[in-house]
Amino acid sequence: MEAPNRQMTATWDCATNELHLHNDQISYLARVLDDGSLGHLYFGPALTPGRPYGHLAPPDFRGPSDRLTEGPRATRGHAGEFVALECPTGGGGDFRVPALTVQHADGSTALHPAYAGHRIMAGKPAIPGLPSTYVESPDEAETVEVLLVDAAGAVEVRLLYTIFADAPVIARSVRVRNAGQRQVTVRCAMSASLDLPDARWDLLHLSGTWARERHVVRQALAPGRRAVSSLRGASSHETNPFIVLARPHTTEEAGEACGFSLVYSGNFRAEAEVDAYGTTRVRLGIEPEGFSWTLDPGEEFATPEVVLAYSSAGLGPLSDAYHRLYRERLARGAWRDRPRPILLNSWEGAYFDVTESRMLAMATAAQELGIELFVLDDGWFGERNDATSSLGDWTVNRRKLPDGLDGLARKVEALGLRFGLWIEPEMVSARSRLFADHPDWAIGIPGRPRTESRSQLVLDMSRAEIVDHLFGVIGDVLRSAPISYVKWDFNRNITEPFGLALPPERQGEFLHRYILGVYDLYDRLTRAFPDVLFESCAGGGGRFDPGMLAFSHQGWTSDEMDPVERLRIQWGTSLCYPLSSMGAHVAAVPNHQVGRVAPLATRAAVAFFGVFGYELDPTKLDPDERCAIAAHVAFYKEHREVLQRGRFVRLRSPFEGDGNEVAWMTVADDRRRAVVGWYRILNHPQSGPQRFPLRGLDPAALYRVAAWPPGDDSMASRNALVRGGDDLMSSGILVVATRPEIAARGDFQARLFVLEAVEAG
Ligand code: GLA
Repeated sequence: MEAPNRQMTATWDCATNELHLHNDQISYLARVLDDGSLGHLYFGPALTPGRPYGHLAPPDFRGPSDRLTEGPRATRGHAGEFVALECPTGGGGDFRVPALTVQHADGSTALHPAYAGHRIMAGKPAIPGLPSTYVESPDEAETVEVLLVDAAGAVEVRLLYTIFADAPVIARSVRVRNAGQRQVTVRCAMSASLDLPDARWDLLHLSGTWARERHVVRQALAPGRRAVSSLRGASSHETNPFIVLARPHTTEEAGEACGFSLVYSGNFRAEAEVDAYGTTRVRLGIEPEGFSWTLDPGEEFATPEVVLAYSSAGLGPLSDAYHRLYRERLARGAWRDRPRPILLNSWEGAYFDVTESRMLAMATAAQELGIELFVLDDGWFGERNDATSSLGDWTVNRRKLPDGLDGLARKVEALGLRFGLWIEPEMVSARSRLFADHPDWAIGIPGRPRTESRSQLVLDMSRAEIVDHLFGVIGDVLRSAPISYVKWDFNRNITEPFGLALPPERQGEFLHRYILGVYDLYDRLTRAFPDVLFESCAGGGGRFDPGMLAFSHQGWTSDEMDPVERLRIQWGTSLCYPLSSMGAHVAAVPNHQVGRVAPLATRAAVAFFGVFGYELDPTKLDPDERCAIAAHVAFYKEHREVLQRGRFVRLRSPFEGDGNEVAWMTVADDRRRAVVGWYRILNHPQSGPQRFPLRGLDPAALYRVAAWPPGDDSMASRNALVRGGDDLMSSGILVVATRPEIAARGDFQARLFVLEAVEAG
């Protein structure tokens, strides 16, 4: 984070009852309405502080529900359509989707949370039991807590808003407290709801499935509700807890965009509703379907956090705001700021065929290539020879590894590599000692069959004794050997959700309690082993979300490593998540998922834009491949800082046009160095010379441009020049090839350009 900017303020004008969260980039405004509701006024570019903005409230229009405003409710300001609210509830005159639904002891659900006070504090409080963004010093952010009370139901609602000093970002969360004498049940508790005054937006979200996660989907909003949600007990491969509203003309570099990112790993809902009057309500939080949470008197429920970001200059700056915040103030621990090692993962090279000699042969070959970390994936424990057994039995298989993990890890370290290990703590195989001893620890509904997936069941992480057990056994594993890295997998979704330890009226709490248990285990293990680098995984990218990234330093982006597929996956992922969070490996060909045979340099040129590694058997490489990989590893080491922590700029999208050409780049903060990646998927004859302009450079600087891989073809030689930043951003890199070169290159080409600022003269 840069030095705190003193322009940040959170002010509450007691005369107008207006809240203004402000820094030099954005403003967020709310105001107490006549009926006590907290109305929304504005979210967008910074407005001058100290002025009243009450006129931004929608006019006093009540539409057809006018007739509902007779009698005592006539005084209520939000009895009609399109009043913009910060915490909309149902059961009154607002018929749009609510953010908060609470069922009182008598079964009724009406709720009118009215302003009862507020406080402003320096810094940002943590959310009990949940990951969230944080500050390192109180002057990095200010937080406002607004207390709303439903007097009739004795329910207190606290809305929390944090503005960061130097980011176009507001973090929001909600607490709901039972201040009465009888139980109440929360049926829906969104983390944030935002009423926008018009509906001229496209909704962008990240959609996919296993091996093709997070493809960008963009569609214009239309009257009605459009939701992205997960019911899988995980944020999922299929959806991601992140949406963007962008103006129809918004591009990477121009136009308005609002981002909504939920720091959560379980069932979620992100929804935009366009009403009959053309206003838009966006809500984001825990998926209400199947959810409920009972509060005894005095108890409180805390929602996860939503991070709202705003850009008036396109999607690029919006992503950049998320990247910086998540890299610097969501990620935590010793590895947050450290360069990440280049790893070799054993999975696609050996699958379950784990023996000490094979692993050591792979590690030896990896060391010769310059790789820094050897990761032993699945297959090292219990009787795990395929996916049908042993999850839960976290003891090393001595027939495979006679000297145990310790022996192997020490031999790997003696080669000069660090040692890492795969685990899947939340799972149990029906064929395991753990399941034999504790069949009731697996999630399921007594009297009903359990749905199996990948031959495994899920442990009930809502139970403290199971989390304690896992903390013990996984802790023992991590203490048993010099383990520097852990890949924490989660290979199936949750079916038959039911908590044996929960009473019937609390079953709606189960899936949220599950995630709280996962966070508890993550928190305890990462604290107990602060020097271990954690990578989260869920059958690839099935739980690639900010909740996980608060504990694990990086995530396994996808089980698909083919570079053509990865262009789309990494592009989509980068909309919200920084390169330092994206595991990206080179795998063997033909690719194990799609059978494609892409050149080694292209596989590397895509994987460089992330946390780089390999996932193949390096003992099977021929001398040319070994030589090339050693050069690729050396290239990554030389440019690691800018490739992991530079500003990522998306230049040409795989989701636009025919998607045949893709380009992106990453630029160091001081703009002295950049690495540009250009990719052409299918080669076409006579495609003709073209240029792609760069962005994010210093226009006044001179850059030496070097093509990679180095060569003497026309593209390399025509670009190998010293050129001005202004020239590169206006005219761009030249894409050109002679006919013989086009024929020689074939499909799936990639070319990188390294830019180094040089002194004029
Ligand atoms: C999941 C992961 C893979 C690998 C296997 C092991 O599919 O995504 O990378 O770890 O599990 O079973």
